[in-house]
Amino acid sequence: MKTYSRWGLSFLFYFATLSLVNAPINFDETTVCRLDSQRKVIEPCSIVIFGASGDLTSRKLIPALYHLFKDNQLPPAFRIIGFARREKTDESFRAELRDALGKFSRTKPVDEAVWNKFAEHIVYCMGDLTDQAAYQKLEQRLSSFGLPELRNNLLFYLAISPSQFGDAVENLEKTKLLKPPGPIGEGWQRIVVEKPFGHDLASAHALNGELTRYAHESQVFRIDHYLGKETVQNILMFRFSNAIFERLWNRDMVDHIQITVSEKHSVGGRGGYYEEAGAMRDMLQNHILQVLALVAMEPPVSLEAESIRDEKVKLLKSIRQLTPDEVAKQVVRGQYFAGVLDGRPETGYRQAEKVKPDSNVETYVAAKLYVDNWRWSGVPFYLRTGKCLPMGASEVRIQFRQTPNVLFAAACGNKLDPNALTLRLQPNEGITMRFNGKVPGAKVGVRPVRMHFSYDSEFGAYTPEAYERLLLEAVAGDATLFIRRDEVETAWQIVDSIRAGWEGKPLSNREFYAAGTWGPIAAEELLAQAGHVWRDPQPIK
Ligand code: BG6
Repeated sequence: MKTYSRWGLSFLFYFATLSLVNAPINFDETTVCRLDSQRKVIEPCSIVIFGASGDLTSRKLIPALYHLFKDNQLPPAFRIIGFARREKTDESFRAELRDALGKFSRTKPVDEAVWNKFAEHIVYCMGDLTDQAAYQKLEQRLSSFGLPELRNNLLFYLAISPSQFGDAVENLEKTKLLKPPGPIGEGWQRIVVEKPFGHDLASAHALNGELTRYAHESQVFRIDHYLGKETVQNILMFRFSNAIFERLWNRDMVDHIQITVSEKHSVGGRGGYYEEAGAMRDMLQNHILQVLALVAMEPPVSLEAESIRDEKVKLLKSIRQLTPDEVAKQVVRGQYFAGVLDGRPETGYRQAEKVKPDSNVETYVAAKLYVDNWRWSGVPFYLRTGKCLPMGASEVRIQFRQTPNVLFAAACGNKLDPNALTLRLQPNEGITMRFNGKVPGAKVGVRPVRMHFSYDSEFGAYTPEAYERLLLEAVAGDATLFIRRDEVETAWQIVDSIRAGWEGKPLSNREFYAAGTWGPIAAEELLAQAGHVWRDPQPIK
């Protein structure tokens, strides 16, 4: 057997860690395996935004469409029609959007030449959602564009309250703007809807019923903006395009998984909405369960939307539902009180605008869930999210099992850190592998070292907004990044079972946390039961 001297070993570790961290790899375009050929062709179309006077349009949708236009990603012929009740002309609507773009564009300054060209594609149509005559007016406007595709290929973006979805789709169908899916070439119509998609299973089910009474499920694109994030999309590539990690991705090798979505900001002016939602409905039901599904699902049979979504649903269905007793043991709520964030005083949640002074709404939630399937049986999945935490970051940490309790583990006890792989979803997007290495020197010492891949250093700073990708996919008709009906309903089932356990129970003293800290003490205790600790996201330079 080959043996290495102590010197040789330490040199090897030192050299390996240094070179792995810094080695740049010069790949060029010829080495990239492009999957775009599988992408559907983007045809000329009109994008109709209902609720065009709202915040979402000016903050997210128009900046995203402007950047897609700037990058030549939109079809050569397209129109954007703002539909809302307020009286505006095409010109005044464009002027408002131009103003907002100055504030919300991810690239600055706004390129005036590009904007002027882009703005020629934007028009405004005044109308009331409940009034069929308004849809006829919309139909005339669409027909006036001349090109049949601009009349027949229609993306309806419902940036409106869910209580209005039913009226909108019914009127679209009645005025023949929305038709059942037909043969290719005869036009397509799609409906894009935003979260919140219901507030429990019953309301989500009812909403789905209203939408699919007039639209086919394949025409409904439910947005979860986390799926538009590059790093969230990379979870599947990382897992299924690398042989080594997938071999480790199971109960034999993984001790537990932590998913953290921490936010630094408070609820701000959204108290009214937040009182109805809380962290559970606002973040866990959608964004966190989506990340969990991608991290834990089985390989899909193909890259088609339905294959991927089938696997996600299967995974969500394998999550063990909790009884009220289990909720008490496995789920922790939290609410921030006044504290200090970034050296500045921060007021408590109960003092926020439109929040009840004795509110029990959670601004933090931590849960220990189990996935009852062959791959993950017995592996805890710890999920947490909260507002007013010390740092805003989203991370998935795969914590591997400890080595057998001999040699270094026997000598070091819990000082020997088990291996971990961290997928940093935002900010400073990247992937870090932690393993142990010898501390160079005559004394024998071992400590964790890191191998780090950073998106920015590898690919250059490129941070498209999630909405850019999602809008493009919706126009292309690829539903992979959107939530299917059974997916949203299964996620609500999980959340409803937890919320049922909270019924009538106010927050306990151990569930409050000072703004600017990592959450309530009860969340620490949740992990301590199994000898685990939260690994808080760290700043990455
Ligand atoms: C939204 C929630 O869906 O996601 C917000 O309603 C939250 O409360 C936001 O702040 C977080 O998104 P991101 O992209 O900033 O992580």
